[in-house]
Amino acid sequence: MTKQAQVKTETAKPVPTLPDAQTVTAVQHWTDRLFSFRVTRPQSLRFRSGEFVMIGLMGDNGKPLLRAYSIASPAWDDELEFYSIKVQDGPLTSKLQHIQPGDQIILRPKPVGTLVHDALLPGKRLWFFATGTGIAPFASLIREPQTYEDYDQIVLTHTCRDVAELEYGRRLVASLKDDPLIGEMVGDKLTYYPTTTREESPKMGRITTLIKDGTLFSDLGIEDFGPETDRAMVCGSIGLNNDLKEILEAFGLREGANSDPAEYVVEKAFVG
Ligand code: A2P
Repeated sequence: MTKQAQVKTETAKPVPTLPDAQTVTAVQHWTDRLFSFRVTRPQSLRFRSGEFVMIGLMGDNGKPLLRAYSIASPAWDDELEFYSIKVQDGPLTSKLQHIQPGDQIILRPKPVGTLVHDALLPGKRLWFFATGTGIAPFASLIREPQTYEDYDQIVLTHTCRDVAELEYGRRLVASLKDDPLIGEMVGDKLTYYPTTTREESPKMGRITTLIKDGTLFSDLGIEDFGPETDRAMVCGSIGLNNDLKEILEAFGLREGANSDPAEYVVEKAFVG
């Protein structure tokens, strides 16, 4: 074989790709603690709005470093969106925060989760309670047509430490009315209730406090939660999830699951 032919054979080798690789298409940094990004969607991936998948990067030891991330985009979107915290010494997010368009990430195409319509019994009003990055599954669900088909009213509460941390959700909600696909369905069914706990803003306080002292209900002109009418999905820290579970149970709502739908469902937001 001539030297030239040898070179040709060598360059024809396929470039090695990660298993389950997807390509990053966009990255947006919201604060020094938060960023969102979009990646290509595997053609075969079907999921229900609100579910999560395992995503990550190849670790230094050659093993995939994966974490559960809620898909923040709706099931009809051509791409997948994720919303993440940046933890400077976090094994995954210390690296993931540096991804750029064109980079590859690993995505295991096995969606699962309890924050799905199937896990709730029919109702009239649907509450999405989020803190921090816990808004991710609801970013998907507020763009899901079924949300507006199944309920008369949807309330999204989002509590963060400061105003800048609300921006991802605020912009998303603001963009919905003009969305060509679901703008009309959203109409005035969606109520957005942002609160902060560590910086001055129009509405301050933990959502649990605002429920207990009646502020949430008086602000929205709602009497209280009722097991006949109200359904809830909760996504935040373990502390928030436990506190809200106790509150919802006290109003007579019961926790549901895919196999046993009821009045509310809970999932932990990714924090590491
Ligand atoms: P706080 O500032 O009073 O701790 P984090 O950024 O730590 O993930 O928190 C996100 C938001 O969730 C913060 O506003 C925080 O309020 C609030 N939060 C944390 N724990 C609870 C809880 N157990 N109940 C209600 N809100 C909570």
